[in-house]
Amino acid sequence: MRLLIKNIGTIVGIDTEHRERIAGAAMDQLGRIDNAYLVAEEGRIAAFGRMEELPPIEADEVLDAEGGTLFPSFCDSHTHLVYAGSREQEFLDKIHGLSYEEIARRGGGILNSADRLGRASEEELYREAIERVHEIMRMGTGLVEIKSGYGLSTENELKMLRVVRRIREEEPIEVRATFLGAHAVARDYIGCQKEYVDLVCEEMIPAVAAEGLADFVDVFCDRGFFTLEETERIIRAGARYGMQAKIHANELAISGGVQLGVKEGALSVDHLEQMGQEEIEALKGAKTMPTMLPGAAFFLGMSYPPARRMIEAGLAVALASDYNPGSSPSGNMRMVMALAATQMRMTPTEALHAATLNGAAAMGLSHDFGSITVGKVANCFITKPIPSPEFFTYAYSTPLIRHTILRGAIWRG
Ligand code: NIG
Ligand code: FE
Repeated sequence: MRLLIKNIGTIVGIDTEHRERIAGAAMDQLGRIDNAYLVAEEGRIAAFGRMEELPPIEADEVLDAEGGTLFPSFCDSHTHLVYAGSREQEFLDKIHGLSYEEIARRGGGILNSADRLGRASEEELYREAIERVHEIMRMGTGLVEIKSGYGLSTENELKMLRVVRRIREEEPIEVRATFLGAHAVARDYIGCQKEYVDLVCEEMIPAVAAEGLADFVDVFCDRGFFTLEETERIIRAGARYGMQAKIHANELAISGGVQLGVKEGALSVDHLEQMGQEEIEALKGAKTMPTMLPGAAFFLGMSYPPARRMIEAGLAVALASDYNPGSSPSGNMRMVMALAATQMRMTPTEALHAATLNGAAAMGLSHDFGSITVGKVANCFITKPIPSPEFFTYAYSTPLIRHTILRGAIWRG
């Protein structure tokens, strides 16, 4: 199958150097070509260039971009989009002054979602989740990581991860699965945190691995959730089964989770609302991707991560949606870019790299996703004609996406 896209106003997010990540000042340099074509063959990018250099070519399908801008698809490296029901009551509680931690202590929060998930069948869970997956595909996401962590028992964690597997097998979006049994201590184990961590390490991880359901292991390493020692134990248990680590760190307090992630070679440390200079120093030269989730800071009214300090220290940073029912009920990566721009002073170009190539790197997949590069998977979207690439982030809620291409084919969902 060969797809030819012609009359593209601008292709952005081009990377001809096959970079694994984009760091520091380079994050603000946009690879682009105006008046362009792109050819996808057998699901991958085969060629692109200027329209006047388009060679004679036989294509199975020709798409006229009519002057629109072509972006690489978003690579959303942190979501919890498999969940049952919703939590707008807690949204009201927050408006009335309760904090995220207070809600959690009263048995709301993650445990509320775990109760709902326990009552839902796998089929019901799938039907809710697939709506959200199609929603993010329409909004430009082509690669997504989805976590478990609302099961909190072996049976229900497996149920969540089987839903993720089904999405992965059936949809053209690329999916990676993360086991997050240590998202909160299950209701039945309150007061017995050590026993719950034993269950995670000795029963859940082997059971998840036996069905090959998770690529990564994650822990909510933060004040009131899991300690550094517990986090280390869990990610090492995951590592024995080939799961690479990703860590929820420094959302509520400086937890040491960033330094632990670097020491253990985690793929990413995520959230980072609470960051000191030591955390930034620890990330220099590390392969661990600092990943910021401004949608959660926005929704919970928290302070935003210090993106400028990180980029100016020469780091690569990623942006993800954190799509979940409690702290970020949205998988809109364009909104995430707009928040990064308005609240964290990232330029739209920095935000684009953070939401594409660096997001792919936070899943260990930047060799295949995250930029317009010959040989990579042909995942991209095309907008209506827009005056500049920045306009896409600036006019952040205007429906601009006209075509979605996944694995080299037009997705018409
Ligand atoms: O990434 N911080 C921990 N976990 C999620 C929130 C989960 C929830 O409230 O349901 C997050 O923000
Ligand atoms: Fe999260």
